[in-house]
Amino acid sequence: MTRTAAGRFVVLEGIDGAGTTTQTQMLVEHLRNEGVRVARATREPSDGPIGSFIRQVLTGRVVAPGGRAPAWTTMALLFAADRMDHVESEIEPVLSQGGVVVSDRYDASSLAYQSISSDRAEDTALDWIRQLNRHALRPALTIVLDVPAEVAAARRHARGEPAQLYEENDAQRMLAAFYRDLPRHMPTDSIVVIDGSGSIEDVHARVLGAYRTRFP
Ligand code: TYD
Repeated sequence: MTRTAAGRFVVLEGIDGAGTTTQTQMLVEHLRNEGVRVARATREPSDGPIGSFIRQVLTGRVVAPGGRAPAWTTMALLFAADRMDHVESEIEPVLSQGGVVVSDRYDASSLAYQSISSDRAEDTALDWIRQLNRHALRPALTIVLDVPAEVAAARRHARGEPAQLYEENDAQRMLAAFYRDLPRHMPTDSIVVIDGSGSIEDVHARVLGAYRTRFP
């Protein structure tokens, strides 16, 4: 795969309801207003064919025999395949024009969500997931929105969306702890954990602060 030196690839991460979708849009809007010629918001699961299939799994429209969700290994492979497609079809073309891509989730989501749903020791699962993603382009910056599971649950409830796979409270508490510790799990990446609680504007200001620290 081509490694693109030009452009900036930034990722926002957090538990469900942490605000990654809103903050991704706001960061991209801000960069455009600042005069960045090409700034694009993308997301995972992506809007490509594999990402669309994954969304059907997450909403329970695709189930494994017995009516269960597919195993964590199957999910990790699907997310990794979607990621390669996302990089090739959406991220690389923007970076090669010298643009900025801000992705709502990337492989930190796989490390977090698939490891907590695995039936293996955490380190074994993490190694397995890292292997699957070892060819994925590295972000220049990952910003984690750190939000307590209860706050995120209240936000999801206020949005009134039907619950998806992984949204049960115990899982969200484990995910919040994992994300807080993400720099230890991805030691060679540039990761900033910021407080994701408070108003949308407050969090946006913190996201910009993290972005400016990395790209002065
Ligand atoms: P989410 O980002 O909340 O999208 P939407 O707002 O459209 O529902 O949902 C994606 C879900 O997929 C979320 O629960 C995290 C999960 N996920 C993984 O388990 N592994 C991954 O690698 C990725 C990218 C997402």
